[in-house]
Amino acid sequence: MEVESVMVTGANKGIGLELVKELVKLPKPPRFVFATYRDESTTQALKEIKDASKDTEVVPVKMDITKTIEIADARKIVESKVGDKGLNLLINNAGVLAMQGFPEITKENMLLHFSTNTIGPVMVLKEMLPLLQKSAAQKDSGMNISRAAALNISSSGGSMDSLSREQSKQFLAAMGYRTSKASLNMAMKVVALTVKDQGILVVNMCPGWVKTDMGTDFAQLTLSESISSILKTLPQLNESHHGAFLDRNGKVIPY
Ligand SMILES: NC(=O)c1ccc[n+]([C@@H]2O[C@H](COP(=O)([O-])OP(=O)(O)OC[C@H]3O[C@@H](n4cnc5c(N)ncnc54)[C@H](OP(=O)(O)O)[C@@H]3O)[C@@H](O)[C@H]2O)c1
Repeated sequence: MEVESVMVTGANKGIGLELVKELVKLPKPPRFVFATYRDESTTQALKEIKDASKDTEVVPVKMDITKTIEIADARKIVESKVGDKGLNLLINNAGVLAMQGFPEITKENMLLHFSTNTIGPVMVLKEMLPLLQKSAAQKDSGMNISRAAALNISSSGGSMDSLSREQSKQFLAAMGYRTSKASLNMAMKVVALTVKDQGILVVNMCPGWVKTDMGTDFAQLTLSESISSILKTLPQLNESHHGAFLDRNGKVIPY
């Protein structure tokens, strides 16, 4: 996998942190990894990766994806580093899960999920779009992550199709989360169709059920199992995957 620059949102822990860790270890690592966080006090592990990284400049960037000003400030930092080359790959990873089923569900719970899991990634992509366009303009044709791409970390929990088969109470209690990920999928499908002539690949991907604070220790996959699969799949993506919803191995998940 060859990319010049990557932004990973929610990179202070969990899947985001592991993505940064694995990206800098690639045989041809990116020149820049912009790793976003919200709270400086949570960035120790990220700083250790930054300090140990030789070929990649890991740039920690403070960005709450629900805050317009912080997203704009982050874009300025990225722009100042990448210049005319633009941004290769945006990984919209940051997300929240707060269990609450129906009828206990509150407006606040629904809004937390929508603002973080749906609106946040759209606004980050909107702000980074000119930088992705610059990167896309460096190459003539085709869609792939080496040219320009937005990878949205979604969840099979947002699949309408799988809901009809999985109906445990606990599964249904992730109501705000599931709704927000289904909305993310739709939003990014719309974005994909809108930018389809711009050479920017847009994909929604589920990382699997992963052992993180969100996934819990009961999850099936270790971080390294999930992220190594994702990083193997990314270079294989092309036009045929544009606007698709995929699992970590590149298999289509029905919307
Ligand atoms: N783990 C799984 O099994 C699983 C399965 C399917 C999909 N996913 C998806 O994978 C992504 C990463 O999840 P994870 O398992 O790594 O969860 P995690 O360990 O809880 O990490 C979530 C990350 O998102 C950040 N974040 C939350 N709200 C944010 C906001 N408003 N602005 C910026 N960053 C924010 C968190 O930052 P703070 O530390 O500041 O809170 C943290 O860095 C999520 O989109 C999740 O939905 C996970």
